[in-house]
Amino acid sequence: MSISVTKKLFSLFIVLSYFTCFVIADCYFTSSVTVYIFNGIPASTIDVHVKSGDDDLGHHNITLNLAYHFHFCANIFGNTFFMGDFADNSRSAHFHVYDDDVFQYVNEYYADITNVYWLLKQDGYYLSKEFKPYDDPSWVYRGAWE
Ligand SMILES: *[C@@H]1O[C@H](CO)[C@@H](O)[C@H](O)[C@H]1NC(C)=O
Repeated sequence: MSISVTKKLFSLFIVLSYFTCFVIADCYFTSSVTVYIFNGIPASTIDVHVKSGDDDLGHHNITLNLAYHFHFCANIFGNTFFMGDFADNSRSAHFHVYDDDVFQYVNEYYADITNVYWLLKQDGYYLSKEFKPYDDPSWVYRGAWE
């Protein structure tokens, strides 16, 4: 192959890999994280409010079987956290919906894509690395309503 064809192929490769990176994994060097929060409480409306140091994601209502989700790129220092405040008519819960501890639990092999699943149930909130039926034992109990 002539040098110029090689060069052209090389530039094409660079452009394609850039494009592929951009489309498939939108985060460079860090994991692309999506946090899902499901309401598993019949006849309830839960106000979800997630915030981090510089991001306030606002208030969102979720009813049974609906989920609120948000997405971000984990930072390379591993110190990103998002606080979740939850309230229904009579009670509330406050916990880190994402932090280093949650990351290590759901993504022990440091994959490029990280999914975090939270489930709000009558007796408290549960964490899982996969989305499973609400009564599946893979949901790990992490705390109670206040
Ligand atoms: C959530 O629902 C409550 C009660 O219906 C309502 O007052 C509130 O404005 C809703 N919040 C949002 C963000 O839609």
